[in-house]
Amino acid sequence: MDALAAFQALATPEGRANPYPYYEALRGHGNLVPVKDGTFVAVGYRECAQVLRDPRLQVQDGTAFDRVYPRWREHSSVRAFTNSMLYTNPPRHGRQRGTMNTEFTPQQVARLTPVIVETISSLFDRVAELGRDGSPVDLMAEFATRLPIAVVSALLGFDGDRVTWFRDLATSIAVATDGFTNPPGLAEADAAMDELAGYFVDLVSRKRGCPAGDLVSGLVGLHDTSPEELSYDELLGNMMLLLTAGFETTAFLVGDGALLALSRPEYARRLADDESFVDGYVEEVARFEPPVHVTSRWAARDVTIAGVDVPAGARVVVVLAAGNRDPGQFGSPNVFDPERAEGQPLSFGGGVHFCLGAALARLEVRTALPLLVRRFPGIALGGVAGYRDRWVIRGLRTLPVVVGARRAA
Ligand code: HEM
Repeated sequence: MDALAAFQALATPEGRANPYPYYEALRGHGNLVPVKDGTFVAVGYRECAQVLRDPRLQVQDGTAFDRVYPRWREHSSVRAFTNSMLYTNPPRHGRQRGTMNTEFTPQQVARLTPVIVETISSLFDRVAELGRDGSPVDLMAEFATRLPIAVVSALLGFDGDRVTWFRDLATSIAVATDGFTNPPGLAEADAAMDELAGYFVDLVSRKRGCPAGDLVSGLVGLHDTSPEELSYDELLGNMMLLLTAGFETTAFLVGDGALLALSRPEYARRLADDESFVDGYVEEVARFEPPVHVTSRWAARDVTIAGVDVPAGARVVVVLAAGNRDPGQFGSPNVFDPERAEGQPLSFGGGVHFCLGAALARLEVRTALPLLVRRFPGIALGGVAGYRDRWVIRGLRTLPVVVGARRAA
């Protein structure tokens, strides 16, 4: 298959259902492949890492959006993203990220451990209740998508009784990350963003009057004392980014971690009994089924990467999921092996935009999976697990499990 056909196949239903054969077809043409004028695809581990770390290759910011879609300002969801660190380049990015780092600290993350354990426990009570008679329960809907929103709400200081509302709005807003290719989705994202922005504005004024030791209280304080370090729009944009960036991603890592545990009783047993097994298991789930399959960078000037000339203005599609299966980095890369020790996967990115929430996501998943198999020792698949029909952020749409007694036939 030629490189362009393999790349284009990733946008088809077949490609989205199973992108891995197309990554291999691309790899057959090299680790950094020109596919058409102005577009290159990185599928090698080292090439992906190099692109992410090279300051001449940048994320798409407002200036870049102006070139491809001058009307982006009409979309509130896109506007909000462009004020956040993920859509900002140095030096603006370094200033925002530095400010966020002073509040999003290892202490803030560690403080969340009891919240994570309590949230898991109460969600499992509901799963147990729903599955008491042996009916299948969808672990994605009832657990995996609820946990990250509850945890990030506690981190940020959002109202705990609105978790389902945040989840539904975040689901709509996530469509904006698909770019401008989905106009009805973008309209839905804008409406959700407007609703959420109203809540954020109100929350900021409440925290200003009554700071509470959470992340938003800290950021409001920083903005009020040094608005040049974090503007009001940046404050709101980053609140929105934090709510959405860790939502589907963490849910998908929980889902795939659970599905793989159900595939081999030995994994479930070791997750339950052997603490030393858990970190390596979660890292391998992230390598094998990364929630973020792909990101992109644009060349701010001519640059040569791994011997390939990338001209100014070109786009480099960085396929993290393909880099994670590069045989030059990981032996037998298509085998799931929780004992492997061949370096960090690319699942949380790299360079200046390396995932701010990686430690939090790992903490959630490392806590959730052992508790799942301990609470439900007889847990088994209760139907067909299905992946969502999306490429960029990829994960399970549904994961039916049986946790209780089976109904009599
Ligand atoms: C399994 C879960 C997660 C995965 C796989 C993941 C993956 C990633 C990746 C690949 C990037 C880099 C994107 C790029 O370079 O274009 C990123 C950035 C980011 N992530 Fe995560 N993420 C996860 C969870 C979280 C959580 C829980 C949070 C926060 C609550 C979070 C917040 C962020 C932020 C703020 C950025 C942008 C950092 C910057 O631009 O400097 N993520 N994430």
